[in-house]
Amino acid sequence: MAILKIARMGHPILRRKAAPIPDPGAPEVRRLVADMLETMEDAQGTGLAAPQVHVPWRLVVFYVSGERAAREAGNPAAEGGAEPADDGVPLTVLINPVIELLGEETALGWEACLSLPGLAGQVPRYTAIRYRGLDLDGREIVREARGFHARVVQHECDHLDGILYPQRMTDLSTLAFTSELARKVDDEADPSAPEE
Ligand code: NI
Repeated sequence: MAILKIARMGHPILRRKAAPIPDPGAPEVRRLVADMLETMEDAQGTGLAAPQVHVPWRLVVFYVSGERAAREAGNPAAEGGAEPADDGVPLTVLINPVIELLGEETALGWEACLSLPGLAGQVPRYTAIRYRGLDLDGREIVREARGFHARVVQHECDHLDGILYPQRMTDLSTLAFTSELARKVDDEADPSAPEE
């Protein structure tokens, strides 16, 4: 296993549309997933998409602890309204994912990204989705997700289409360095945005 270098905003790999993986169980896919999981853990990220580690494949990994989900859910800095409480998301490897919307409702919430280190911004996302994809054994995963779980999946899958979260923002005035946001802790909630 290895800790991989993460591409930062501006690198062309992050603007490319990634290609489907024909054989989810292939040894090179397993190796990449092992390295991505190690890289995500090392960077304390919530999720990671293959293009972020310079591989143009449709593959994402993510994990949300119950503690983190609860913190994000109750975050009043999300002006679109607090997202529903969530029990977290199991460690998931999702190959060739597809997202289906379960409604038109969106909510604002803080996001960060390992490809934009030190920054965070408020991003509107659909609050309810169904997603499907394959695991490393080629079995289909189908899940419904709401709130922060749905946000993480939308953020990660955007990477596969060459989209970074600032491109989804409707108010760029909320784009900020997290170290500066920390100054507001006294009079506002700590956004403690997750790195994805
Ligand atoms: Ni990201």
